[in-house]
Amino acid sequence: MRLLSIITTSLTLFFLLLFLSIHLQAYTPEDNFTISCGTTGIVFDGQRTWTGDEDTKYLSGGQGSTVLTQAATQDPSVNQVPYTTARLSPSQFNYSFPVSAGPKFVRLFFYPADYPSFPRTHASFSVQSNGFTFLKGFNASLNADAEATKTIFREYVVNVNDGEILILSFSPSQPNSYAFINGIEVLPMPSDLYYTSATNSTGFMFLGSTTLYSVETRFALQAEYRIKMGGQEISPLNDTGLFRKWAGDEKDYLIKQNPENNDLPADTDGKMNITVNPDYVAPKELYRTARNMGTNATLNKISNLTWEFPVDSGFTYVLRLHFCELDPNINKDGDRVFFIYIASQLAENHADVMQWSHNQKGLALQRNYAVLIPIDNTQKKVNLSLQMHPYATNDKTTYSDAFLNGLEIFKISEAGSNNLAGPNPDPVQTPHNNIPAPKGDRSSKTAAATYPVQSPHNNIPVLTGKISSESRGTIIGVVVGVVSGVVLILLVVFFVFLSATSRCAGLLFSMTKSTKTHNSSLPLDLCRRFSLLEILDATQNFDDVLIVGVGGFGQVYKGYIDDGSTPVAIKRLKPGSQQGAHEFLNEIEMLSQLRHRHLVSLIGYSNDNKEMILVYDFMTRGNLRDHLYNTDNPTLPWKQRLQICIGAARGLHYLHTGAKHMIIHRDVKTTNILLDDKWVAKVSDFGLSRIGPTGTSKSHVSTNVKGSFGYLDPEYYKRYRLTEKSDVYSFGVVLFEILCARPPLIRNAEMEQVSLANWARRCYQNGTMAQIVDPSLKGTIAPECFEKFCEIGMSCLLEDGMHRPSINDIVWLLELALQLQEDAEQRENADIVTDESNEIKRGN
Ligand SMILES: *[C@@H]1O[C@H](CO)[C@@H](O)[C@H](O)[C@H]1NC(C)=O
Ligand SMILES: *[C@@H]1O[C@H](CO)[C@@H](O)[C@H](O)[C@H]1NC(C)=O
Ligand SMILES: *[C@@H]1O[C@H](CO)[C@@H](O)[C@H](O)[C@H]1NC(C)=O
Ligand SMILES: *[C@@H]1O[C@H](CO)[C@@H](O)[C@H](O)[C@H]1NC(C)=O
Ligand SMILES: *[C@@H]1O[C@H](CO)[C@@H](O)[C@H](O)[C@H]1NC(C)=O
Ligand SMILES: *[C@@H]1O[C@H](CO)[C@@H](O)[C@H](O)[C@H]1NC(C)=O
Ligand SMILES: *[C@@H]1O[C@H](CO)[C@@H](O)[C@H](O)[C@H]1NC(C)=O
Ligand SMILES: *[C@@H]1O[C@H](CO)[C@@H](O)[C@H](O)[C@H]1NC(C)=O
Ligand SMILES: *[C@@H]1O[C@H](CO)[C@@H](O)[C@H](O)[C@H]1NC(C)=O
Repeated sequence: MRLLSIITTSLTLFFLLLFLSIHLQAYTPEDNFTISCGTTGIVFDGQRTWTGDEDTKYLSGGQGSTVLTQAATQDPSVNQVPYTTARLSPSQFNYSFPVSAGPKFVRLFFYPADYPSFPRTHASFSVQSNGFTFLKGFNASLNADAEATKTIFREYVVNVNDGEILILSFSPSQPNSYAFINGIEVLPMPSDLYYTSATNSTGFMFLGSTTLYSVETRFALQAEYRIKMGGQEISPLNDTGLFRKWAGDEKDYLIKQNPENNDLPADTDGKMNITVNPDYVAPKELYRTARNMGTNATLNKISNLTWEFPVDSGFTYVLRLHFCELDPNINKDGDRVFFIYIASQLAENHADVMQWSHNQKGLALQRNYAVLIPIDNTQKKVNLSLQMHPYATNDKTTYSDAFLNGLEIFKISEAGSNNLAGPNPDPVQTPHNNIPAPKGDRSSKTAAATYPVQSPHNNIPVLTGKISSESRGTIIGVVVGVVSGVVLILLVVFFVFLSATSRCAGLLFSMTKSTKTHNSSLPLDLCRRFSLLEILDATQNFDDVLIVGVGGFGQVYKGYIDDGSTPVAIKRLKPGSQQGAHEFLNEIEMLSQLRHRHLVSLIGYSNDNKEMILVYDFMTRGNLRDHLYNTDNPTLPWKQRLQICIGAARGLHYLHTGAKHMIIHRDVKTTNILLDDKWVAKVSDFGLSRIGPTGTSKSHVSTNVKGSFGYLDPEYYKRYRLTEKSDVYSFGVVLFEILCARPPLIRNAEMEQVSLANWARRCYQNGTMAQIVDPSLKGTIAPECFEKFCEIGMSCLLEDGMHRPSINDIVWLLELALQLQEDAEQRENADIVTDESNEIKRGN
C-alpha cells in the first residue's frame, strides 16, 4: 500500500515536472541571452535584466589581457546599462552561446569612449560569428563620429545549424588596436520571420532580374533600417516580443519633394481592428500610422513620395514594405493605386493594398523586394531610394495617392565571402575630434542611445545579489533541467540498446554502406562520369567561342566527346553552390533516371576539382524562342507550333507524373523548350533548381533560378505556394507566346500590354484576340482550332491553381486542337482565315 502511494506520488511528480518542462519550453530560456559585458551578477536597466559576463562559461580567450572596466568619461546621456562597463582586449576573445538550431537575432551594443589605458581612437577590430563577418577593421570611434552618436547599435540575423553553437569572436585588427564590446543580446526568432524557406521555394521579386530571390538560411542579414512611417517610434519593449526598435522616418529619410507629404494618423483613436498574421511580424502599433502624399492631386502628379537610405554599395538588400489600409475613404480595390520604385527601378506597376488584401480592410500585409546595389568605387555610401508615385485619378483610381506604414531594410551577406562588413566612413572634420554634439535619433542603427529604453532612474546600482523571482526561476529551471537530463539519458540508453540489437545495427551499417557506394559511382548505364580532362578537351578549355547559351546556372558550351564524334551540350554550373558533392550526385542520380522523348537527356556529369558539370544531348535547333521572335530564323508554321506545344506538354506531364516523386519544373519558358533536328520539342533544365548555385555575388545579378518574370504563377508569387499548377500557368504563357510571337514581358510597353498574360486575358475578354496573333500566321489558323487553343491558354492562366487543368488534360486538349486544324485543312472549302473580323464570341 505504502509502496503504491510512493509510486503514485513519484509518478504524479514526474508528470507534473514533465508538464512543467513542456510548458516552459515555449520560451526556451537557454536560448535567450542579454549580456552586459565586463560586469558580474545581474544588472537592471529599468526594464530588463542583463547578465554579467565575468566568470561565465560563455567567455573564452583574451585571457590575462582581458580587462573589464568602466568608461573613464561616462556621458550622463548614455544609458548606464549596458554601456557603463565593457570588455576590452588587445587579443582575440570569444563568446559562445549554447543555443538551439534556428535563426537568431544577434545585437551588439558599443560605447566608444576612453577607457583607462584604452584610448577611444585605438579601438579597431573585427567581429565574426559562425563563419560570417559582421564587422571588419571596425574603427568604433570613427563610426560613432560619422553617425553623430555616442553609442553604436548593430543588429544581425544568423541561422544556427543543427549541432552548432553561436560563437561571437572579437579580434583586434592591428597590432596596436584593441577590441571591445559593452552589451550582447542573442534572441531566437520564428524561423519564417525573415528567412524564406529554401525547401518551400518561396521567393520574391529580385529587381532588375528575371528571377526570384529567397533569403536562404545560409545567408546572414544585417538589419540596417526598421522604420515606422509617421507618428512615434515603437520601443523594443512594445515590439512583438522580439525587442526590435521601430524608428521614425521623418527626420532623416523622407525627402520632401512635395510640401504636402504628411503623416497620416490612420487610426486616430487606436480602436480600428488591425489584423497582423502571423502576429509576431510587426506590432499593430506600426500600422496605426502611415505616411501619404497629401490631397493635392496636382502636386501628387508631379512628385514622388520619396525616402533615401544610405547603404554600402556592392551588397544585395531586401526591403520589406508594411501596408495596412485603414483610410475611411478607401474601401475597395482600385481606390488607391500607385507605382513603387526601388533604387529607381520599377517594383510594382499596380500597387493596390485593397486588392492585395482581397478588400479586407485593416489586414496588415508585407511585400518583399530584393535589389542589388552595384559597387560604387567613388563613394563610401550610396543612397538606396524608395519612391512611390500615384496613378492619376483618370487612370482607373479614385484617389491619386500613395502610402506606406513601415519599412525594414536588410543587408544580405555576400554569397562567396559571407561578409556583411562595409568600409569605415571617412573621418569627420570636427574642431575637436572628440565626442560630437548629439544629433537626435537618426536610425534604428544609431538609436542605441535610447536602447534599451531610457531608464527612469539614472543611477541604478549594479546588482550582484539575487533577485527573488529570478532565483525561483532558476530553481525550476534546475529541476526541469535535471528531469529532462534524466529523460534524455534514458532515451540515449534506449537508443544505444536498440542499435546494439542486430537488426538496428544492420540497418545503420547498411545505411552508411549505401551512402558510401552511392557516393563513389552512379549507375553507369544511366549516367556517365567524365573526367575534367575530358570536359576540357571537349570544350577546348572552356573556350568562349563555344558558348551556346548562358543561363542562371552558368554557361552552356557546345562540345564534342568520344574523339569528336558526338556533339553534346556541356553545362558548367557556376561555382559557389552551397551543395556538396554528395547532394550534387544525389540530384544527378535523380535526373539521370528521367528518360522521355520530350525531355533533354542527361548523358553524364563531371564532379572533379569541385566543378559541377552536366553533359546533355545536343539540340541542333536550339531553343523555341529563337524561332518565334527577335530572330532571323524563318517563322514556324502553325501546325508545327502545335506539335511543339504538344511535345512540351508531354514532357511536363512526364515530369509531373512519371518519376518516383512529382517534379515541378518551376521555370517553364520558351528558352527552356529545345528543338532537335527533327523539330521534336524537349523540355530542358528540369530539376536543376535543386542543384544550381543559388547565391548572389557582385558580378551576377542572380543565379537563383526559381522562376522567370512574365511566366510566374501569381499564386506562387503572391502566396509563395508552389504546385504543379504553377508549371501549368507558365505553360499558358508559353502558349500565348507561341501564338502571338511576343515576349512575356515588354517593360516599356503601354501599361496593359506589359504582361502578355494580362494582355491576352484582356483581349480574350474583349473578343480582340485575333488582333494580337503573330501576323505571319494570318490566315493559316482554322477558327475552331484557334478558339480551342485560346480556351486552353486561358484556362492555364486562371488565377486559382485548382481551376487550371492538369498538364495531362492540356496534352489531350492540344491534340484535339491539332485534330480540329487538320480536319479544317482537309475540308478544302473551310474558311481558314483568321482576321480582325473573325472575332471569338465570348460571354465574359
Ligand atoms: C527570454 O528570457 C526571459 C527570462 O528568462 C523570458 O522572460 C523571456 O520571455 C524570454 N524571451 C524570449 C523571446 O524567449
Ligand atoms: C574563437 O573562435 C574561433 C572560431 O571558432 C576560433 O578559431 C578561435 O580559436 C577562438 N579563439 C579563442 C581565443 O577562443
Ligand atoms: C580610427 O579613426 C580615427 C579618426 O580617423 C583615427 O585617428 C584613428 O587612428 C583610427 N584608429 C585606428 C586604430 O585605426
Ligand atoms: C511550407 O509552407 C507551408 C505552408 O505555408 C508550411 O505549413 C510548411 O511548414 C512549410 N514547410 C517548410 C519546410 O518550411
Ligand atoms: C508602450 O506603449 C504604451 C502605449 O502605447 C506606452 O504608454 C508606453 O510608454 C510604451 N512603452 C515604452 C517602453 O515605450
Ligand atoms: C472590431 O472587431 C470586433 C470583434 O470582431 C467588433 O465587435 C468591432 O465592432 C470591430 N471594430 C471595428 C471598429 O470595426
Ligand atoms: C495644389 O498645389 C498647386 C501647386 O503648389 C497649387 O497651385 C494649387 O492651388 C494646390 N491645389 C489645392 C487644391 O490646394
Ligand atoms: C518618380 O521616381 C521614378 C523612379 O526614380 C522616376 O522614374 C519618375 O520620373 C519619378 N516621378 C516624378 C514625378 O518625379
Ligand atoms: C543621400 O541623400 C541625402 C539626402 O538627400 C543627401 O544628403 C546625401 O548627400 C545623399 N548621399 C549620397 C551618397 O548621394
